[in-house]
Amino acid sequence: MKTVGISLKKLKNEIKKDFKMARDLKGLNDVFNKYLGKHDGELNRILRSLEKLPKEKRARIGKEANKLKEYIKQKIEIKTEKMRLLTVPVNKKEWFDITVPGKRPLFGHLHPLTKIKRKVEEIFESMGFSIIEGPEIENEWYNFDALNFPKEHPARDTIDTFWLKSNHLKLLLRTHTSPVQIRYMEKNNPPLRIIVPGRVFRREATDASHEINFYHLEGLMVDKAVSAANFKAVIQEFYRRFFGKPVKVRFIPTFFPFVEPGFQVDISCLNCQGKGCSACQQTGWMEMMGAGMVHPNVLKNSRLNPKFLQGFAFGMGIERLVMMKYKINDIRLFYSGDLRFLQQF
Ligand code: DAH
Repeated sequence: MKTVGISLKKLKNEIKKDFKMARDLKGLNDVFNKYLGKHDGELNRILRSLEKLPKEKRARIGKEANKLKEYIKQKIEIKTEKMRLLTVPVNKKEWFDITVPGKRPLFGHLHPLTKIKRKVEEIFESMGFSIIEGPEIENEWYNFDALNFPKEHPARDTIDTFWLKSNHLKLLLRTHTSPVQIRYMEKNNPPLRIIVPGRVFRREATDASHEINFYHLEGLMVDKAVSAANFKAVIQEFYRRFFGKPVKVRFIPTFFPFVEPGFQVDISCLNCQGKGCSACQQTGWMEMMGAGMVHPNVLKNSRLNPKFLQGFAFGMGIERLVMMKYKINDIRLFYSGDLRFLQQF
């Protein structure tokens, strides 16, 4: 039965072609029926006709035909799996329309305190001051003793200062950035010109002008002959550039333990230019900050010799500057996280 042998070979080629043409599950089903359909599948027909063959041929050709049957079954299994993967319906949730315009992300911006801090830094940097930072947790020596605070000074009291539980050195949350003066003078040789912006803490009741946490900016300039006149020139130029208009500056004598003499620095009222209005309570002046000539004890505590060196120091609250610039009437707004407030800057 040579003919059956040849027709099996031809059949295999035909089957291969048919598989190539089958594009979908229905196509595969058609291939199956064509060759292995119960009644008129071609291969089935051959298998049925085997019984008419002589014994030896029957075995050989039967083997071949069964191989072909296996081949078809396997091929259908593999192709069905592939097609099933390709035709998995797209999950609606995963589908997205790339032509829809995107959602605009919400852009944040710098906090008004950060903006003003950077502006202040920029002005002082342009006058040759370096920006220095120090620790927010201080010890009693740097925050008070080295700055010439007497032992009984009320600022040391637990009513005003957050003291931390600690084993040896008495630790606290710094009440000003003045201690960084000492830290810097210990490690650097004059001439010195620095500003120290940073967060400070006071233990007090909050109201429209008091917060337990706020920002300070300390300044220090030390050399052989730095005078109060130099300070006046520096600070007047600073305010002129900060407020964008000429301002007058005056010093009122006052006391801070770390300076001698000490001054309260006032500027001419921004609202009425010194004529007198409700903003300045008719005085024509606005109180801005504390300052003075560095006390000899402070220089000594920083291992500098007051016989040959002198300088000025000043300290201002950054919130106060921002409040004056933007006419903000409550310091608590800065820390409230209220977007209606923050979005105005
Ligand atoms: N440290 C002061 C305060 O906590 C501010 C200050 C006043 C700083 C006078 C100075 C200064 O350097 O000379 O309010």
